[in-house]
Amino acid sequence: MLPLKHDISTIRNLLRDSPKFGGREVFCFPEIDSTNSWLMSQEDIDGTLCLAEKQSAGRGRQGKTWIAPESGSILMSIGLTLDTRFCSALSLVSGLALVESLKEAGVADLSLKWPNDVLLNHRKLAGILVEVSGTRCVLGIGVNIRVPALTGHAIDQPWTDLASNGYRMDRDRLVVSIVLHHERLLREYLASGFESLAGQWNDCHAQANQEVRVLSGGKTVHGIALGVNRHGELLVERDGRVIPVNSGRLSTATGFRQEAWTGQ
Ligand code: BTN
Repeated sequence: MLPLKHDISTIRNLLRDSPKFGGREVFCFPEIDSTNSWLMSQEDIDGTLCLAEKQSAGRGRQGKTWIAPESGSILMSIGLTLDTRFCSALSLVSGLALVESLKEAGVADLSLKWPNDVLLNHRKLAGILVEVSGTRCVLGIGVNIRVPALTGHAIDQPWTDLASNGYRMDRDRLVVSIVLHHERLLREYLASGFESLAGQWNDCHAQANQEVRVLSGGKTVHGIALGVNRHGELLVERDGRVIPVNSGRLSTATGFRQEAWTGQ
């Protein structure tokens, strides 16, 4: 059975009452290089959505590529304009909004790997790439809906999709829910900062009290992940000292033992 394509009029209609996204542009491309790159190149992006059935050059965090089969996932970018002081915890707010929308759709066993990977049963289900230029900001979101195993040969970490976990989703309704949860949490973040959301994020933390390594700015911080603070920084405890880390790549103990073993 061929996967269904996005129905833009359904998405526009379901978003019509949204203060930020109602009546704004929703673009959907059959194929594009990257929804993030396209939206970043546009003028007035606040409240604009860009979706694609397929990306020829999908981008992930840390310069990686993002691989997804045609119409087998959600590939979307949300355009915003924001005061730059809100950039720090934005990617964590986005991860939380994604978890909330998936929970609302009935998905259980979700967690967050800092800063914003969404895990289902400890495997990566969704990723977020936040790109900022001045006050223009694009939140790029990829969610695996039905991804055949072969697609994964180039993916360098355990991953999963909704279909193989028994979840059947209406992609358009999930897109709308993701947008509305972003709208709600962004409103809270802009009004009160990340402080009011940090507790919620920590309740979803996949690596709470686990041994981690974070490669950040050429240095490796190795210790126990405690959770995030009111700035969205990951607190790592080492020899009784708590080190806040504001960006980087996190590996778990299993991950880095494998890396050591394979010599990577
Ligand atoms: C990650 O590495 O975890 C982030 C992945 C982000 C992928 C999405 S798919 C839609 C949007 N367009 C892109 O090129 N990347 C993001």
